Amino acid sequence: MWPVLLSISLVLGIWFRWRYKNRRLLEIAKKMPGPPALPLFGNALKFMCQPEEFVRVLTELIRDYGDVLRFWLAADLNVVVSNPDDIKLLLTNNKTSNKGPQYKYMADVIGGGILSGSGIAWRKHRKIATPNYGKRAIESYNDIFNKEVDWLVDKFKSLCKSQEIDIYKYIVQCTSYTVCQTLMGLSKEETMGLPHLQNLIDNSPTLYNIVFDRMTKWYLQIDPIFWLTKSSQQQKQFKQQMTDLSTTVLKLRMKKLADLDDKLYLMNTIEDSLKNTQLSVIDRFILSNELDSKELIDETFTVFTSSQEASAKISSFLLLMMAFHPTCQEKLYAEIVDVLGSEDKPITDDDLKQMPYLEMAFKEVLRLFPIGAMMQRTINEDIAISSYTIPAGSSLVVPVYHIHRDPRFWEDPDSFDPERFTQENIKKRPTYCYIPFSLGPMDCLGRYFGAKLIKTIVVKILQKFKATSNNHYKNLRVIISISATSLDGFHLNLTPREVE
Ligand code: HEM
Repeated sequence: MWPVLLSISLVLGIWFRWRYKNRRLLEIAKKMPGPPALPLFGNALKFMCQPEEFVRVLTELIRDYGDVLRFWLAADLNVVVSNPDDIKLLLTNNKTSNKGPQYKYMADVIGGGILSGSGIAWRKHRKIATPNYGKRAIESYNDIFNKEVDWLVDKFKSLCKSQEIDIYKYIVQCTSYTVCQTLMGLSKEETMGLPHLQNLIDNSPTLYNIVFDRMTKWYLQIDPIFWLTKSSQQQKQFKQQMTDLSTTVLKLRMKKLADLDDKLYLMNTIEDSLKNTQLSVIDRFILSNELDSKELIDETFTVFTSSQEASAKISSFLLLMMAFHPTCQEKLYAEIVDVLGSEDKPITDDDLKQMPYLEMAFKEVLRLFPIGAMMQRTINEDIAISSYTIPAGSSLVVPVYHIHRDPRFWEDPDSFDPERFTQENIKKRPTYCYIPFSLGPMDCLGRYFGAKLIKTIVVKILQKFKATSNNHYKNLRVIISISATSLDGFHLNLTPREVE
């Protein structure tokens, strides 16, 4: 009996002490609309649902409490902001340039690289990496993009014509091999020899599910409980494999750099951005001498994981949408044939620039299926927005998925309609109701890389195949697991155009 009473008193003592220390936060939170919160848990139990239910829970909260609402995840006060102008102000503000506490669960898996990190190290590392994500660098990746996508097209040609295939698993292999040979600077042979590569490609969706589970289920945030789960074992194994892969990449690049005479010149000259095609991101991290060995491993894996899955998912969604919407597909096909004919030729930036409908369809896919479906930032100092002051110490939540489907800005928001992105229609909406790459200092570093790779994949596939599906768009089940994804995969029939 005594131990129980003692434990209860201890918990209550901690709780009252926390409330006293955070009385200002509590006072401000009280003025914000939001669901009633339980002692200790806050509103954490609300999010204890299946991933497919998560969208509905948040939709109801936004519907019931409006553009600014608060909920508590135990001691963490979260403020959800859905007004585009407030979002612009918040995401571009220095007072929010720290990722929120939920990113810890991402860092537990992929380490504290640019994607999950914040603070001085994040700033320094982002600056080092940036030249390789710029337009000039992306232009220099042309050959590899085309070669790898040609491999993908050949793969689809070799699969049985009448068979329905889950395209994602082939596309993600193509994007992964592309990233290794561009941002990481490896040859194809070196890429194919990387330890655990296929395993890491196959298992990264599971890992994202584990991260999202921890983000949304309070009991999995208690480490000793998480350690007892199967997910914890999977995470440990994945981390080990990821470390082996990153160590191999680093060794290969260090060996190459040892033979490169003017490497420091390449890195430090004011012409750096003109010469950036000779150094990979990994080379830059090594040559900077700013990163210790753990940071080098974390950043190496971040280069991989931040890019290959996002590109593969959006390519798959775009092809799926074309299959669900044959009229849109025919319009895009006509545009492709107009620019390229049916010739097998490498796709260039100029070709892509001449495809406005492709750009519109791409944007519409990013609207419906955002990669950062929900983002969280820590508020470092009080910030006044249109209707409230968001207090220091709380977490900002930007519900991108919901803003992208908010009926105030999007007519018939769940329907797929690339015409929303004509210049004329764009002008009719507030600018920041569409933020697929986020905004401000922590925006997506790989937007040009991703856009070009995805477009190259989609154009080359649709040039050669007609995509159809046995399913209908209205039956598509979308879930949020960090990014929006299709619960049932990406199944398509690809019929070669020449046999039509
Ligand atoms: C169309 C595909 C993509 C979309 C829609 C997208 C979207 C995003 C979004 C919304 C964020 C912010 C996430 C957050 O703050 O929680 C982000 C961050 C990031 N993305 Fe992308 N991404 C895409 C592809 C890529 C690719 C291909 C790369 C790499 C080549 C990449 C590299 C990164 C990195 C490094 C960050 C972290 C930036 C930072 O925190 O400083 N992304 N991306």
